[in-house]
Amino acid sequence: MTPDKVQRIRAMKGRERIAALTAYDFPMAQMLDSAGIPLLLVGDSLGMVVLGYPDTTMVTMEDMEHHIRAVARARPQALLVADMPYGSCVTPAKAVENARRLKAAGAEAVKTEGGRRILPQIAAILAEGIPLLGHLGMLPQNSVIEGGYHVKGKSDEERLALIDDAKAVAQAGAFAIVLELVAAPVAAEITAQILIPTIGIGAGRKCDGEILVITDLLGTSPGGFIPKHVKKSWRMSEQIRAAVVEWKEGVAHPDQP
Ligand code: KIV
Repeated sequence: MTPDKVQRIRAMKGRERIAALTAYDFPMAQMLDSAGIPLLLVGDSLGMVVLGYPDTTMVTMEDMEHHIRAVARARPQALLVADMPYGSCVTPAKAVENARRLKAAGAEAVKTEGGRRILPQIAAILAEGIPLLGHLGMLPQNSVIEGGYHVKGKSDEERLALIDDAKAVAQAGAFAIVLELVAAPVAAEITAQILIPTIGIGAGRKCDGEILVITDLLGTSPGGFIPKHVKKSWRMSEQIRAAVVEWKEGVAHPDQP
């Protein structure tokens, strides 16, 4: 049951580090679930790593619903969290309407990018009884206007703003917060100051857990891109290519052993 799954993630703070991954389809959801991953995120990274869009801002509600349904069909033991895509949270009413749609598609919780700026939206979603994962630091949906992915929290002003945002999102009732590309000392400070888990991505080792885009871990992201924060990528696109080339050779020369 969803409340139990959410409670399980919350209760991991201080006890067990959270290892979370993104998933976008049925077989991958099954594989990650069988490996005991406790939180699966249908992230809007979907746009870049599956759909061939240049960034996350082109991902639609329909894209998200389609992939959430696929992941939900795996009936994972893991908590299934869905990203609220670009433009889906412009007002509290829109945020609730869209969070309900993602829930109807099979999501058990939603993730929203932003802190105090979207607090009314966060409060409205939570008031609907839909569990919410916050997301602070580098916000991919802002990467176009910010001209790329930059580490946040380097200046004192950014550090204080991040801490205040994290406290506000936690106080509003989020069950955990993703900290993306947050300067490691600031991520550690936030982790120590809030009662809910922080899940880092490129935010040092002091968060309560880590999340990765599954294709970055496997090494199948488009163009062979591997972000700096991925300690080891399995470079599986090379293995896939080798398998295809070997099979193709076998088709071309069926009589060779
Ligand atoms: O969309 C996504 O995959 C994410 C993760 C990077 C946390 O938001």
